[in-house]
Amino acid sequence: MIIEPRTRGFICVTAHPKGCAQNVLNQIAYVKSKGPVESAKNVLVIGASTGFGMASRITSAFGSNAATIGVFFEKPPMPGKTASSGWYNTAAFEKEAHAAGLYAKSINGDAFSTDIKEKTAALIKQDLGKIDLVVYSLASPVRTHPVSGIRYKSTLKPIGDAYTNKTVDFHTGEIKEITIQPAAGDDIDNTVAVMGGEDWEMWINTLKENDLLSSNFKTVAYSYIGPKLTEPVYRKGTIGRAKDHLEKTAFTISDTLKDLNGKAYVSVNKALVTQSSSAIPVIPLYISLLYKVMKEKGVHEGCIEQIYRLFSERLYLDDIPTDTEKRIRIDDWEMRDDVQEKVAALWKEATTENLSEIGDLEGYRTDFFNLFGFNFEEVDYKAEADEMIEIPGLV
Ligand code: NAI
Repeated sequence: MIIEPRTRGFICVTAHPKGCAQNVLNQIAYVKSKGPVESAKNVLVIGASTGFGMASRITSAFGSNAATIGVFFEKPPMPGKTASSGWYNTAAFEKEAHAAGLYAKSINGDAFSTDIKEKTAALIKQDLGKIDLVVYSLASPVRTHPVSGIRYKSTLKPIGDAYTNKTVDFHTGEIKEITIQPAAGDDIDNTVAVMGGEDWEMWINTLKENDLLSSNFKTVAYSYIGPKLTEPVYRKGTIGRAKDHLEKTAFTISDTLKDLNGKAYVSVNKALVTQSSSAIPVIPLYISLLYKVMKEKGVHEGCIEQIYRLFSERLYLDDIPTDTEKRIRIDDWEMRDDVQEKVAALWKEATTENLSEIGDLEGYRTDFFNLFGFNFEEVDYKAEADEMIEIPGLV
């Protein structure tokens, strides 16, 4: 079929298999160009199909020749209907990994469920024996609790007062003011239930109970802080409470790993265009300005650059640098004073009329369409593409 982008708000409901493959190939090429990384040999990535999780899988496999198992929740293709992008990304990743002689298998299903945890544990036991690293990179708007069966929905709301600020519709470039009403009822608890640390801890407990963690085992989950500008809707909002909980959970998990000399880390990553961040109001305008400033200063990074730097310059050092809250900071360049001062100044000036000049709206859009396999020069989008791509190592 001929596959074109069909967007609905901040998502694209189609994905291009060749473009998604190109996206993965570019990331593999980046890692190879940077050279080997001393890290784990057997790696489980939860949330492995897109964004930071996919970059973690690629860095592990092509930087350290690691055997990888990826867990994700993606839509398979049907005749005449494309799969979701993470499906095609994974198909391309596995094809390349297998061609390079690397073990790579994947599990598609709800990572929050007991069923998927047990299925993953059984696969590790059968194929790898033990795991050295678990990357926890889930981003989801909902979670069905595996014990109570309650379905929690997360929200992206400020806490206390309503929050009014500028936001951009990145398709049209229109900047307007938006007001987000504060969290009410169970909004905070529900968001913590979805994006907090409980599920991460459940994963590690399941793997540990099954004796699947090696000595010196590490696990890392991803968090975000960001600037004052976005604080009300992010770090001091409902999602921020969930990140507080996730960060606290790292200490609880570390306590359970002492006998293995293992440790749980949180890495605070940079704001980037992913399917998850496009959904947060105000953030796309911040990212458009941030991209412009960071590109001008020569310090812009995408997911793969961030994760390669995390693995090569943080996570596997003998002495891992952390902040006062014991978090790894790979958002250091985003948070540099000179970067933030410039973004804050541009924020005040930004209007519909000047955004394409003072911000990097084009870069935002390119990254957004790239997520779904579109806008790659190497791909002929007028040609027929086979939508029925299989993931070779899907269990
Ligand atoms: P993403 O949307 O690209 O990836 C989410 C992954 O989770 C996908 O692999 C998806 O299949 C998987 N997933 C979602 N629900 C699932 C379920 N129920 N079962 C199994 N898999 C499921 O998101 P992104 O942006 O890479 O986020 C990953 C982590 O990084 C999140 O914790 C996010 O808060 C954090 N982060 C993101 C930043 C950003 O700017 N995008 C910045 C800093 C941290």
